[in-house]
Amino acid sequence: MLVQSKPYRTIWPHPHNKEVVQIIDQRLLPHEFVVVDLHSVDEYATAIRDMYVRGAGLIGATAGFAMYAAALQSRDDHFAGDMQKFADSLVATRPTAKNLSWAVERQLAAVQGLSTPAEKRRKSFQVACDIADEDAAFCKRIGEHGVTIIREISRRKGGGPVNILTHCNAGWLAFVDYGSATAPIYEAQAQGIDVHVWVDETRPWLQGARLTTWELKEQGVPHTLIADNSGGHLMQHVLVDLVLVGTDRTTCCGDVANKIGTYLKALAAHDNKVPFYVALPSSTFDWQICDGVADIPIEERSGDEVNLVRGLSAHGLTTVAISPAHTPAANYSFDVTPARLVSGLITERGITKADKQSILALFPEKG
Ligand code: MRU
Repeated sequence: MLVQSKPYRTIWPHPHNKEVVQIIDQRLLPHEFVVVDLHSVDEYATAIRDMYVRGAGLIGATAGFAMYAAALQSRDDHFAGDMQKFADSLVATRPTAKNLSWAVERQLAAVQGLSTPAEKRRKSFQVACDIADEDAAFCKRIGEHGVTIIREISRRKGGGPVNILTHCNAGWLAFVDYGSATAPIYEAQAQGIDVHVWVDETRPWLQGARLTTWELKEQGVPHTLIADNSGGHLMQHVLVDLVLVGTDRTTCCGDVANKIGTYLKALAAHDNKVPFYVALPSSTFDWQICDGVADIPIEERSGDEVNLVRGLSAHGLTTVAISPAHTPAANYSFDVTPARLVSGLITERGITKADKQSILALFPEKG
């Protein structure tokens, strides 16, 4: 998507050295746009854990390239063992997004049948590029399917913008390009459909306030930033036509893990009969589990992210405390919205109800 009118992806091989990969350091957005080089598995692991890169699709794509770095670092005579150790260290960095282990396992499987380390390294680079390209292509298709929902709401309204509420950042910054929840919005904009986005600030890391606002602004999509707790009020006053969010892991029965606070939006949407859709590429499905509340691992991050806030002051980027020193803080990063609160899932293959039978009808090879 566009940054200062120039097209970017969120991750790409260095133009002069394919052993190096470049990313946008999302910790510094929207105030600074800094591109960082990644060389070693350690650097990739830090970038994922410390959220230079974040969002399910981008975590997966970064893990894909990290496994190529692992292939380069693995010793010829201990290749499989070294690869497995690197894989384990990467998977441990962030536990909730399914795309991480999906990409790592895809890389391990791809090199398994090949005979020489050189062949394996060549293959691993190709697979990393395929994962990134596929992520972008799937998000584009999510946009093409999802826009039908927005177009239909616009037609029924017969005037005025379609007001879409989103939580966190499931935009292009969370993927390789286009985004999941934002792809239908960008497609609607391209088709001339009038849209307006309510952006939840998304405490504590502020993905909405820092990232979603920035990317919508760069693409010229009308939007308004709101405090996290505003959604219910807006829905009661018919100011939200559609809730559209992403997901970090979705079970084969349609339970959806997404950024903490999503569940409360789904409850409010249900109570106010506002459609609640979740957009995801198939790499985010966890085909092994059904009950999301019981079985999706929920990442707990440092309480510092709750007690401290970083923003721009006259002196540059500054961190300030917003609570008394040493306040105990809990930081559950995700919650699970049960399938019964989900109006539908928008995937690269089309839109489906959030239940096992319908999901498997769209992905029969997983049955
Ligand atoms: O902690 P993050 O920023 O990696 O969380 C991911 C998210 O941004 C959201 O939960 C998002 O809505 C789904 S990821 C496409």
